[in-house]
Amino acid sequence: MKLIAAILLVTGGTCAFAQPKTPAKLDKEGHPWWQHAVFYEIYPRSFADTNGDGLGDLNGITAHMDYLRKLGVDAIWITPCFPSPQVDFGYDVADYTNIEPMYGTLADFDRLVQQGRKRQIRVVLDFVVNHSSDQHPWFLKSKASRQSEYRDWYIWRDGKPRDPNAPPLPGIATDPNAPAGEDPPNNWTSLFGGPAWRYDPGTRQWYYHYFDPAQPDLNWRNPRVHDAMFNVVRFWFDRGVAGFRLDAVDTLFEDPQLRDNPPFYPPNELDAAGNPLPGAVPPKDPYGMPLQRRIYNDNLPENHVVLQQLRQVADQYGAVLIGETWTENIAQLKQYYGQGAAAEIQLPMDFLFANVNRLSAPEFRRQVGLVESSGGWPVYLFSNHDITRAYNRYGGQQPSDQVAKLLAALLLTLRGTPILYYGEEIGMENRDPVSREEVRDPIGIRGWPLEKGRDGERTPMQWTAGANAGFTSGKPWLPIAANYQTHNVEAEEQDANSVLNFYRAAIRLRHRDPALVEGAYVALNQDDPNVMAYLRQYRGRAVLVALNMSSEPQTVRFDLARQGYGAKSRLHELLSSNAAAQQKLSEVSLQPYGVFIGEVLR
Ligand code: GLC
Ligand code: CA
Repeated sequence: MKLIAAILLVTGGTCAFAQPKTPAKLDKEGHPWWQHAVFYEIYPRSFADTNGDGLGDLNGITAHMDYLRKLGVDAIWITPCFPSPQVDFGYDVADYTNIEPMYGTLADFDRLVQQGRKRQIRVVLDFVVNHSSDQHPWFLKSKASRQSEYRDWYIWRDGKPRDPNAPPLPGIATDPNAPAGEDPPNNWTSLFGGPAWRYDPGTRQWYYHYFDPAQPDLNWRNPRVHDAMFNVVRFWFDRGVAGFRLDAVDTLFEDPQLRDNPPFYPPNELDAAGNPLPGAVPPKDPYGMPLQRRIYNDNLPENHVVLQQLRQVADQYGAVLIGETWTENIAQLKQYYGQGAAAEIQLPMDFLFANVNRLSAPEFRRQVGLVESSGGWPVYLFSNHDITRAYNRYGGQQPSDQVAKLLAALLLTLRGTPILYYGEEIGMENRDPVSREEVRDPIGIRGWPLEKGRDGERTPMQWTAGANAGFTSGKPWLPIAANYQTHNVEAEEQDANSVLNFYRAAIRLRHRDPALVEGAYVALNQDDPNVMAYLRQYRGRAVLVALNMSSEPQTVRFDLARQGYGAKSRLHELLSSNAAAQQKLSEVSLQPYGVFIGEVLR
């Protein structure tokens, strides 16, 4: 969601595997498993196809469990694999307690969990809490009549008569099925383009959808919806699922009065009091609708009540909740963590990094500092199925493996839980569609060419240099990214200098060195415009991480007198790339995008 984002804007071995219904064992330091785990996001449609239909499946994931173990992954998060018409590729769920037939069966899923467990890999699912598919039986019944007992499971309202003096609506805002002269209940716009309301000619009312019209919002104010969704969670926890990633959790509740959202103006169009300057016009989203501040349908206080209840259920199972939380500031992030009896999400994702689109030591340092200041346990990710892959976002015009390794080093040495995105570990690149005909993502179809959609970051996993990168024996549902002949698992396993082998080494290091998991984060040389550096300090030991985020060689000097290290202190290399193995505190040399990780010796 490139434009939208721009506008809005771990350890195996030591911890015992929790069985369902038993709270997770704490490790020696008293930390739960998810603080030590390296997570790996799998987009099942694109990971591995075992039946030749061009779409990945659950058996494909199971077949590569050894690959994941060797990589060092402790938990996989699988994006929605439930029965779905696939309008939004699974984020439109038609049955919350079953497996999409094209992905396999419940028995395949059980086998996947079991094979994961054998290798100490936990399975986390994606819980689409805000909306279901318009083909879900709940919605079909809700839509059947105004008197249906399911009517109130979704958000239905009468339209409004159009003001005859209002300017004509942009084409995208016109619902062809709505009676002439009738407008939606309010001005809310959908994140996926157009109004957030769709007219149903059968019952002559409008239903609300924050995302695609095929994704009607559930009415969380209805206790029966609440109970049904909590039963879903228990169903999967009882089946051995170790947690959920909560999809679009900011948008669970809407203003009961459905008040209009105010327009959004960029800061330079506001006066000192925050009012728009004369003549200011709100900019448009890529679909042609004026931008608005979603104060009445995003991040309502009621969300937090549900999250606290959900956390209590998760705690009964020792499970983790990962939040797709698009926080705008640290106060919002803090709220999602909650506290004590009002604890909420253990791992609320901080998407501030999604809005940082170039490698910049000051900018990265600032984001990490902000997250550190929240007081919670951070979670970091640089890529996912909604944002341009970091390989390209930070690699610029000429993405390089050197940058990929630098990002790996950062992700795996920060204090917090890292989440990798499939293919990131081999330096997979983005491949945006080249024409509208090629686009599969609904937002790309609606937003072309301003919004090209998210196909680019969802291309098939590159296993080999052979046909279809070894992803399928059939026709892949999306084209393979161009770099598959050099960047694939088979080739990179043979190459000691590959991105894959660097990821493996960095994960291994994280698993072995407690300073990288437990250690305090201490930013160093905070004025350096090129090199981001920090210590991870733990029990009298310190590991130094220096990352050259520039395309020029850099030499840096560290004064660690305050940390108790003298001028003679040496550095014992733990892992490096594009940097000499022998380095002194007084002179650390890094080649372009070079990485040096070393223990500081007294
Ligand atoms: C989240 C998902 C995205 C999906 C949307 C609607 O943002 O990550 O892929 O389209 O929710 O479910
Ligand atoms: Ca909602």
